[in-house]
Amino acid sequence: ARVIVTESIAALEGALTRPAPTSLVPTMGALHDGHRALLAAARAGHERVVMSLFVNPSQFGAGEDLDRYPRPLEADLAIAGNAGVDVVFAPSASEIYPAGFATAVDPGPLADELCGASRPGHFAAVATIVTKLFGLVRPQTAYFGAKDYQQLTIVKRTAVDLSLGVAVVGVPTVREPDGLALSSRNIFLSPAERAQARTLSAGLHAAATIYGVGEREARALTRACRAELAVEPEYLELRDRELGPYAPDRPAVLLVASQFGTTRLIDNILLEAGGTP
Ligand code: PAF
Repeated sequence: ARVIVTESIAALEGALTRPAPTSLVPTMGALHDGHRALLAAARAGHERVVMSLFVNPSQFGAGEDLDRYPRPLEADLAIAGNAGVDVVFAPSASEIYPAGFATAVDPGPLADELCGASRPGHFAAVATIVTKLFGLVRPQTAYFGAKDYQQLTIVKRTAVDLSLGVAVVGVPTVREPDGLALSSRNIFLSPAERAQARTLSAGLHAAATIYGVGEREARALTRACRAELAVEPEYLELRDRELGPYAPDRPAVLLVASQFGTTRLIDNILLEAGGTP
């Protein structure tokens, strides 16, 4: 069946009239294999798959890359169709934020840490748009990439705290053969920056390797990562899996962000006792 493309809320509601178990994959388009993994997970579990495609202006700060963010609509629709998406929702900004729109979701203190420290308001904007999309689509399940680990953690929290009735599922990061996490922003990297960017995952992997054989000292773990990095990280932080403080006796995650020229990339790795993931 052909994918139904809707641009208005009314058309979306029309496409969803028949009650059916539904999953949602929220995206900003510029789809890559990481998104394909989200769509495959959604397709496997539910009768109806909805994908939203909306470059949400409110989550971009002044001086960020809203204007140059890639928007290959035809290619995205072809990928959605091939992935078995039933309904695409691709609204305009005025459809989502009409005059008078005033409400925001405040995700609490975690929104100011890690990426939030350099992107004030970003996670409130993400929590707000995701809550609105949940309200529009009413999915049972929604899929988010683990590459954006802080986003995934915040969206899980929002769904639980506000009893949105959506199970938020994280899907493992998809990587290039050399380890670079797939991102719609990788296309901005010059060849030299692309070569530097692979050191993010190399550093994370180095830390995970020594964690796997028993290292639990925070400084030793971050030092092992830092030794591989070609650039100074914006942050390099060890946390527990809920993004609370690191505790040596609890499952942990190592998160990094770095700027490569004009392109800011993030990555993370789950630290596993007894071996690298
Ligand atoms: O991860 C993204 O693509 C966006 O932050 C999301 C979840 C679609 C909200 O705009």
